[in-house]
Amino acid sequence: MSGEILTVSGLNTSYGEAKVLFDISMSVGKGQIVSCVGRNGAGKTTLLKSIAGFLKPKSGSVTSDNTNLVGLAPYDIAKFGIKYIPQDKKVFFDLTVRENLELGSYATKDYNWDQVLAYFPKLELLMERKAGYLSGGERQMLMIGRAILGSPKVLLLDEPTEGLAPGIVTQLKNTFKALSKNTALVIVEQNLPLVCAISDKVYAIKDGTIVAEIVDKESIRVDVCERYL
Ligand SMILES: Nc1ncnc2c1ncn2[C@@H]1O[C@H](COP(=O)(O)OP(=O)(O)OP(=O)(O)O)[C@@H](O)[C@H]1O
Ligand SMILES: [Mg+2]
Repeated sequence: MSGEILTVSGLNTSYGEAKVLFDISMSVGKGQIVSCVGRNGAGKTTLLKSIAGFLKPKSGSVTSDNTNLVGLAPYDIAKFGIKYIPQDKKVFFDLTVRENLELGSYATKDYNWDQVLAYFPKLELLMERKAGYLSGGERQMLMIGRAILGSPKVLLLDEPTEGLAPGIVTQLKNTFKALSKNTALVIVEQNLPLVCAISDKVYAIKDGTIVAEIVDKESIRVDVCERYL
């Protein structure tokens, strides 16, 4: 059994007076793919943002490698090796793919370009294209490519396949499997067949609480996950 690389314990997050996450606890092992499923508004994005430092939890802890991450700035959490890939696929539209990657390199001093191109050879062909012209799938490759420049400890992916064609979803599925050999993945995903094909563990989130932790392979099935949506 591999050790834990990310541990969330008793996490509560609010937007002003509105409480959204209630006592969330979860653990992610090294090299694991852990998925979070739940209806719209359940609090999945809020959870990832709380881990990545974009939202400050009211209480609870997020630890990785014996370091408490709560209270650190998002860029310090990214530098630490926990990279958040947001739901909105925002890249710098007026900059080229190369420039977008360079900015990612510059911010975190990560220069592992070979790895990025090994996972996403298509980016090599798109290097001089403005990111604003990329298709949804290409933009997702750029987002993930930028995040893996520095061989992160954990990738936090918020609905990475939303709106993408089946072909690219299959490709990303294989990429996630390959990435998980070196990096733990926490994936928020609505695509249950994908979730069930790749996950070592699934958390079901409902109204800001974890209502199920599905850990054994036999139980990670679409019909089981559906019960919690
Ligand atoms: N900036 C905000 N200010 C106030 N409330 C917010 C804010 N962002 C999200 N919420 C509320 O928090 C709750 C959880 O939202 P969140 O975006 O985390 O859900 P989600 O599970 O990611 O949903 P989806 O599947 O639609 O992406 C929702 O009720 C939402 O309205
Ligand atoms: Mg969301």
